[in-house]
Amino acid sequence: MAPIPLVAGNWKMHGLGPDLAEIEAIAAGLTEGGPEAMICPPATLIQQAALGVAALPLKIGAQDCHAEAKGAHTGDISAEMLADAGAEAVILGHSERRQSHGETDGIVAAKVGAAWRAGLTPILCVGETAEERAAGRALTVAATQLAGSLPGSGAGPLVVAYEPVWAIGTGRVPTPDEIAEMHAGLRDALAQIGDVERAARTRILYGGSVKPANAAAIAAIPGVDGALVGGASLAAADFLAIVAAFDGAAA
Ligand code: PGA
Repeated sequence: MAPIPLVAGNWKMHGLGPDLAEIEAIAAGLTEGGPEAMICPPATLIQQAALGVAALPLKIGAQDCHAEAKGAHTGDISAEMLADAGAEAVILGHSERRQSHGETDGIVAAKVGAAWRAGLTPILCVGETAEERAAGRALTVAATQLAGSLPGSGAGPLVVAYEPVWAIGTGRVPTPDEIAEMHAGLRDALAQIGDVERAARTRILYGGSVKPANAAAIAAIPGVDGALVGGASLAAADFLAIVAAFDGAAA
């Protein structure tokens, strides 16, 4: 049976206090029994957002964590602190962090372990650059990232997000066949790393320029279990339209 889809919004470095109203509008607009919905606001808003939606069917996640639980790490936030603030999940290995913070697969793997230690679900991002796709290496690159970004030991709940770097914030999206091929290949890679049963129940989201206009077509692609949405998650109406497009996609 296909898992319940997850539509997660990555607010990146957007969001001041007044924007909590947008999160509450999203929570109020969700219908029971629909896809799972989550917003990952900047860390400064997590606690207020989690309190604001506590009785509503919207989950709150974070965008990164440190690998250690506590210590002398100026400016960093641990997975335990995010859980304490009310986060249920954490995006890890986003290409923006891999590129501008030099995060290697090894660093991401340690963070995945930290998320599990703190009871958070990691949303692990992998994806190729335009050059890697042009060279025919898209699946090799993404599957290698996936294998390298999972800790050698330990296990917990996992969500994978296939996010081609060239599709993020560009308005460009792979073809449905390309997305289907990548999701099938990543699920095979998961089965080889872990076990077939776990691979079958792990949700693999597509991310990169998901908008209300293309969400239904993306939701219909075999092997797509939800979406990781950047820009279009900032406005309640757009995000809710994307959630609605995934309603029934599990059937
Ligand atoms: P986008 O971002 O939807 O704005 O392309 C997606 C992401 O970076 O997760």
